[in-house]
Amino acid sequence: MEEKQGAQKVKIGNAEVNVVHPSIFNVVKQRQRIKEKLSGIKHKIGVYSAKGGVGKTTVAVNIAFTLRDMGFKVGLLDADIDCPNLHLFLDIKNAGEPVYPLKPLEKDGVKVISTAMFVDEAKRPIIWRGPMVAKMLSEFLEMTEWGELDYLILDCSPGTSDSNLSIMQLLDMDGFVLVTTPQHIAAINAIRSGMMAKRLGVSVLGVVENMSNGKTGGGKEVADALKCDLFGEIKSSNIFNTASDSGKIPVSEDSEIKEEFIRITKRLISGGD
Ligand SMILES: Nc1ncnc2c1ncn2[C@@H]1O[C@H](COP(=O)(O)OP(=O)(O)OP(=O)(O)O)[C@@H](O)[C@H]1O
Ligand SMILES: [Mg+2]
Repeated sequence: MEEKQGAQKVKIGNAEVNVVHPSIFNVVKQRQRIKEKLSGIKHKIGVYSAKGGVGKTTVAVNIAFTLRDMGFKVGLLDADIDCPNLHLFLDIKNAGEPVYPLKPLEKDGVKVISTAMFVDEAKRPIIWRGPMVAKMLSEFLEMTEWGELDYLILDCSPGTSDSNLSIMQLLDMDGFVLVTTPQHIAAINAIRSGMMAKRLGVSVLGVVENMSNGKTGGGKEVADALKCDLFGEIKSSNIFNTASDSGKIPVSEDSEIKEEFIRITKRLISGGD
């Protein structure tokens, strides 16, 4: 086949392709750099829904600490760049100006990185346009010294743009755990999120129904629509609010919640079996 003028050859996996548009070339190059940088991490999993407030951060934190309890080395990346919450759930303090390469903080054996470590957003909210959000996310991916990890869990922001698009384009990941509540509206948004991931070539590993009312609900709707596993349901419990508000980890506080997360996490790491 004739080579197009201005095209550059780029190796993706074992294939060599001609890349014509310079911005695509940059994305491919950056993806390769990030892949090399994160080569010490065995699994990268995002916890995601386009809908806000369904429990993405709750599920990400509790899966991460369940994995730690199972003996794995775990990192948590707060991919909610402009509205970070992980530090609130984990009672992590601001660490001042970033020093490169970035060093994650450690919370009870789990490594954590979040914009909130470097910007005192309690006093000054982070008001950034898309390119700045994408830049910070790239810095987290390219410049964090995670060392060897079994699992990196990403706590994603709501929505289907900016940081989530960057994650899907830049990160060579295992895939996403989608979070929904029993409500149809939450399910529709989780389905939307899964469709976005699939369209960008990223797998949907399964779905968690949070704040479950014990009846068949949004989780099954999402699993049926996306033909993915329903990893499990998590009941509504005040323990989530009281624990999270005081920087405690629900799976370390309550045996029923712990059991629910062990079931979900086992299904996640065994591929839904
Ligand atoms: N199963 C549950 N039972 C009761 N409360 C819960 C449960 N799961 C989460 N919550 C509470 O609901 C609120 C929202 O949860 P969380 O912050 O995890 O959602 P989110 O999807 O990450 O939100 P955002 O879109 O803003 O990032 C929190 O106060 C959390 O403690
Ligand atoms: Mg959140």
